[in-house]
Amino acid sequence: MTTRYPTASVGNGYIFNMNNPKISIICALSENRVIGQGDRIPWHIKADLIHFKEKTFHHTIIMGRNTFDSLLGYYERSGRPMPERNNIIVTHDANYNPKQANCFVVDSIDKALQKAKEIEKKEVFISGGEQIFKQTIHLADKLYLTIVNGNFEGDKYFPDYSMFKKAISKEEKEEKGQRFTFIELIR
Ligand SMILES: NC(=O)c1ccc[n+]([C@@H]2O[C@H](COP(=O)([O-])OP(=O)(O)OC[C@H]3O[C@@H](n4cnc5c(N)ncnc54)[C@H](OP(=O)(O)O)[C@@H]3O)[C@@H](O)[C@H]2O)c1
Repeated sequence: MTTRYPTASVGNGYIFNMNNPKISIICALSENRVIGQGDRIPWHIKADLIHFKEKTFHHTIIMGRNTFDSLLGYYERSGRPMPERNNIIVTHDANYNPKQANCFVVDSIDKALQKAKEIEKKEVFISGGEQIFKQTIHLADKLYLTIVNGNFEGDKYFPDYSMFKKAISKEEKEEKGQRFTFIELIR
């Protein structure tokens, strides 16, 4: 049996599936594409944390278990509650306990995307880390990147994203002497 999805025209002949949220990737990376060192991000840019919060507010995020664990650790240490947001955590561990509300645990990328379609209408954000970006970059419609000026040491990298050629927004910033750029890219 074929499933029929509602579609809509956006006026230029392009038909999109109204059931599917847009898939975006959000990440901060250095010029040499480093995103992490161990379980840490090798810089502290407060404006980037705010940017992440604003972009993903009221949306669903998908992340790997390592990234979720480091976020959880951060909120536990700071004593602050995790922001109210749907988190989909990808892990092979069927017994993984996220210890937080609004969390869904899945054991594959496909299931993460399926879950996202069920609970998110507009835009789902893939938020890392290295393993998850590597497996999903080909699926993304849009990248929200924070390019941190300079080359950093690290052992976790963002994949090649040269297929995203068109910048639709670009904002150069500086915080405590560290320069960085918020850039939004589409294919
Ligand atoms: N700069 C940034 O914007 C940014 C953003 C996010 C993360 N990071 C950094 O990235 C690093 C973490 O990245 P990472 O690559 O180590 O870990 P990760 O991608 O966050 O998580 C990897 C884990 O996800 C699960 N997983 C991955 N693929 C799977 C699949 N196909 N099916 C089922 N489960 C799967 C596995 O969990 P199990 O082992 O439980 O099976 C795996 O160990 C940290 O340094 C973090 O700070 C940086």
